[in-house]
Amino acid sequence: MTLTDNTPVRAPRPRRHPAARLACFPHAGASADAFTALAAALPEDVEVLTFQYPGRRERRSEPCAADIADLAGEAARLLAPYTDRPLSLLGHSMGALVAFETTRLLEQRGAVARLFVSAARPPSEDWGERDLDALDDADVVAELRRLGGVPEALLREEDVVAEILRLLRADHRALRRYRCPPDALVAAPVTVLLADADPKNTLEQTGGWARHTTHGFDTELLVGGHFALTGRDPDVARLLADRLLERGSAPMATPADAVREIYLAGIGGGTPALTTDLTALEEQARAVMTPAAVGYVLGDAGTGETGRLNRRAYARRHLVPRMLRGAAQRDLSVSLFGRTLSSPVLLAPIAAQTVAHPEGELATARAAAEAGVPLVLSTGSSHSLEDVAAVAGPRWFQLYWPSDRAVAASLVRRAEQSGYTAIVLTVDAPTFGYRPTDLDSGYLPFLHGHGIANFTSDPVFLAGLPDGGSVLQHWARVFANPALDWDDLPWLRTVTSLPILLKGVLHPADARRALDLEAVDGVIVSNHGGRQLDGTVAALDVLPAVRAAVGNDVPVLVDSGVRTGSDVLKALALGADAVLYGRPYLYGLALDGQAGVAHVLRCLLADLDLAMALAGCRSTADVTPDLLMPEAHPAPYDFG
Ligand SMILES: Cc1cc2nc3c(=O)[nH]c(=O)nc-3n(C[C@H](O)[C@H](O)[C@H](O)COP(=O)(O)O)c2cc1C
Repeated sequence: MTLTDNTPVRAPRPRRHPAARLACFPHAGASADAFTALAAALPEDVEVLTFQYPGRRERRSEPCAADIADLAGEAARLLAPYTDRPLSLLGHSMGALVAFETTRLLEQRGAVARLFVSAARPPSEDWGERDLDALDDADVVAELRRLGGVPEALLREEDVVAEILRLLRADHRALRRYRCPPDALVAAPVTVLLADADPKNTLEQTGGWARHTTHGFDTELLVGGHFALTGRDPDVARLLADRLLERGSAPMATPADAVREIYLAGIGGGTPALTTDLTALEEQARAVMTPAAVGYVLGDAGTGETGRLNRRAYARRHLVPRMLRGAAQRDLSVSLFGRTLSSPVLLAPIAAQTVAHPEGELATARAAAEAGVPLVLSTGSSHSLEDVAAVAGPRWFQLYWPSDRAVAASLVRRAEQSGYTAIVLTVDAPTFGYRPTDLDSGYLPFLHGHGIANFTSDPVFLAGLPDGGSVLQHWARVFANPALDWDDLPWLRTVTSLPILLKGVLHPADARRALDLEAVDGVIVSNHGGRQLDGTVAALDVLPAVRAAVGNDVPVLVDSGVRTGSDVLKALALGADAVLYGRPYLYGLALDGQAGVAHVLRCLLADLDLAMALAGCRSTADVTPDLLMPEAHPAPYDFG
């Protein structure tokens, strides 16, 4: 490959036979020279390529790019010939977005070895950048000084400052115009480079890059400020070289790395804002919610016996871990309905989430997407299923079958059109359970405007609203169908081609009957977290019988009482393919919105990953019944 002087892609130190290549994309306002020091510090067998954006240096006569997409389009075209050797991309700050988009384009033709993103938040998130066109020069220069990227001597030269401001403003316009869908993905593994004293980015903020790659994500902490990458630190070059040449590279990030990050933060005196004890979140959340919300979220039906039983069913069972099985890396993924889930965990449908936090399901969906955990959205969500889909990752839709079939069909159709990939039909709530906590406070969230957005946004529901009639009264008429019976089920099949799961099944004969009708594709063993019929059996206790009734080929999920990583292992060992995780994430939502849900999911997945390591399970397929102590109590009930 020959490199001519007038191409925007340059090799500051061309190599004849490089072992790897690294294409670098500078930050806003900068030229390709930003990487001179780094290129010099990298070993001989790495060839650095730099991309000069239009509008600067030798490209000064060209207008600056109006869009990140234009930069990426040009870069992908010019870099295509360099893919004969493993090619990684590295973008600093705004350059990370250009590198991300360029990777997406390059991957249409071949593989990119790795994407390094430095000092950059995830592409689908708001970077919170100020409009530089609205700031005067002095303010912009003050910000440049704060970040420390330009030597003080240069900041005193009028011509230099004028040129930097011209470029910075133009690049910022492109940055602020940039929009990225939340489910935009690259196949390359992503390494985030984050400096410990970067005033613009934190570990929490950059963590969302995880959901933009299908092949693993990790974070490397650098020492320094926003420009730690482009300084002269030999450790940075060494770290990059190790990754580029796969020498002694750190293992890919695993969920358990969340634990490592907590301890690392602890060196500087940091501790997690919320407890990492997933069974203690309830008490923390109780303190921040209104009494009515506490009643609705925490409340069980009746005496709470079933709620307590759900937990006892997990506490009663004990793992017998296996040793020395070399489970250094765990594969948490499972396959359901032809799709791979990154872990055997989905978020349970929980209605009216704005009672816990004003952003409700939007915050939950963002956090779930970030963690790669599918969300099951309730019919009773406080934001419309379309609005949630716009910020969500993988998603299923839970259906409360309305009394009007046309409304049911409309909801299902909208879910299909909005990218929900399964329908969860809940059958254990033909009516609300008898819940003393809600009754004592006279509080039903729906009657206070929470959890009805899917109806108020539904054209068929609205068309049925009598002239001048009350929306709430109409909702109360339409919302549920207590008369639903087995004969109705086949109809649902006719309105959707999505897989259908029946949620709220406890008796194995019900599970079998649904399958015999060929009306459903999977079942969710659940007693609604003890919120419906008090006195029912724990969901976990009937899981083995349901599994036996439907055979091994039908997806069986379980919820009600799942709290920890060990609980997930126990559920899988008893025959579940995956679990629905319920109240704990709502506690996270109440405590800190999206960040709270993200925290809870990080903790659960770390706990699960560690539990698998400690139990000697390399993959979810290794979680078999012999991982559990045979029970010391009577054999499971024979449902005959
Ligand atoms: C506040 C709250 C609202 C819920 N709303 C729904 C719902 O709209 N649809 C549904 O199928 N299940 C709903 N559930 C039940 C959950 O999907 C899940 O079965 C239950 O939370 C599991 O129990 P756990 O959270 O104690 O583990 C709700 C649960 C709670 C706590």
